[in-house]
Amino acid sequence: MSSSSSSPLQAVPTSALVALATTSAAVIYGVWFYRRVTARGDYLPQIDRAIPRIRAADTYLGMIGIFDPNQVYRITREVVEDTGSPSITHFMGRPNVYVGTPEHAREVVTKLKEKPASMRKSAGPFLGDESVVLVPHEKWVPLRRNLGQVFHLLNMKSYFGVFVDSAHDFVARIEEHNAKRGKHFEDAKAKGLKTQPTTLLEPIDVDRCAMDLALDVVTRALFSKNLAFQKGDSKELSINLARATHLFMKVLNPIFWLLHPFQYREYHRMIKWCHNLCLKWIKERQADPNNETKDLLALMLKARDPETGNPLTTEEIVSQSFTFYFAGHDTTGHTIAWTLYEIAQHPEVEEKVHEELARVLGDKDAPSYEEAGKLTYLQWVIKETLRIHPPVGSFSRFTTETTDIAGVTLPADCNVTVSILAVHNSELVWPEPWRFRPERFSEEESEGRDQYAWMPFSVGERNCIGINFAIMEVRTVVAVLCQKYLVRPSVDLLPHTQSFITSTPVDGIYLHFLPREK
Ligand code: HEM
Repeated sequence: MSSSSSSPLQAVPTSALVALATTSAAVIYGVWFYRRVTARGDYLPQIDRAIPRIRAADTYLGMIGIFDPNQVYRITREVVEDTGSPSITHFMGRPNVYVGTPEHAREVVTKLKEKPASMRKSAGPFLGDESVVLVPHEKWVPLRRNLGQVFHLLNMKSYFGVFVDSAHDFVARIEEHNAKRGKHFEDAKAKGLKTQPTTLLEPIDVDRCAMDLALDVVTRALFSKNLAFQKGDSKELSINLARATHLFMKVLNPIFWLLHPFQYREYHRMIKWCHNLCLKWIKERQADPNNETKDLLALMLKARDPETGNPLTTEEIVSQSFTFYFAGHDTTGHTIAWTLYEIAQHPEVEEKVHEELARVLGDKDAPSYEEAGKLTYLQWVIKETLRIHPPVGSFSRFTTETTDIAGVTLPADCNVTVSILAVHNSELVWPEPWRFRPERFSEEESEGRDQYAWMPFSVGERNCIGINFAIMEVRTVVAVLCQKYLVRPSVDLLPHTQSFITSTPVDGIYLHFLPREK
């Protein structure tokens, strides 16, 4: 009786059902993908004739190439080799036009206001749907007005101390490293083995240290919480943040959820964990109205739109907090590491940095806010580092209607990417672009240079809101370290870069820190 009433599906093995479901999903996805690609076919040939296609990233299945971290570099090289003319690639049927000259960058940021819709869709869950990086232009205008007050230069004085304290923690970490690693060499010397001064101390991965420092800085400047990442505390947050960031890059592949369902769920779990932590800290502060702490959170809670008087909502503050975490730590950490690397590679530059430090700081181990502002030569060094190693290699906008860019008429629904790397490495813009020469930024040499020639923080109205914060952080930390140490490169551990959301020196940047005799 029971067997006759059972469903015919019960007779089919589970594995066959799973295979059927997977095949159906693949067919539906294939049809959708094909329709999406062919729907744009009518205007693609027209732009293709006008703009040379990039072979390295070409084909509709170029998505495979797009997720190769080195792809950005290949694309950029081709743009540069094309003497600055625009190039095109396709991603799932959508044309993506690459430009790489200051003039074209100016055209893009003045004519195009929107970020690519695909970027909002893929990065929304990660940064938060209300993130200033992602919201459509109409929403962005009042949000940026509000946040403009938060990042006002005058406010920096209230959290400048965070940069100095975190730099001292960096010094403590180097001291601990040198004390441990130097001991082997003391033992070796005691046994009569000959060692060179630089090899007396093992090199340290300065990129890892600077990333931890940048996390400390952003947590303290934002929430006034000292989680001591540099001392190895708060591993859970740094691991979850790093894991979420790593998975975020993979999730950009539209079929990642199908290929790796468990990692996809893990990604969402990690993001939720990070967002909930920010929300908890925000709620704690909201529940304590008499708290007089002066940090970025306090400034966000206080900010009112100068035109409408509206405050930021809690959801907006959570999205911005996570955005500052993400946008503010990786980029700034790498910049500190690359600046120290370039100083280590160029003793003549280091000498000039020391001269300036002696003039402005004397024997003090750290600058005051005013003194940090007077370190002009160090500022050139940082700018030149950002020219050669821009942490963000490109930025994109989106055409919402037919628009002329770089002499070509682009249809609506087209991504346009400005290659920062191409502009910074172009011989037409920067003579001998491969040479590290901070003097390029002196007043005399800067005169007449296109203001869109240097754009590590992007350009136009949607440029980086944290530019002053980042530069002051790098300047303070590098000043403290150069006051105390001679920086020397490691002879056998050379860094190389991969583009992974931000340009990342994979395997670290190893340097020796030798105590200075002044
Ligand atoms: C060396 C360090 C940094 C670099 C190279 C950098 C680079 C950039 C770039 C290229 C953009 C623009 C992207 C575009 O045009 O689409 C951007 C936007 C942004 N950055 Fe930064 N950034 C750095 C540090 C920071 C810091 C420290 C913060 C905050 C604490 C921050 C917060 C933001 C925000 C909120 C945006 C979005 C602005 C908007 O759309 O209105 N960044 N950054």
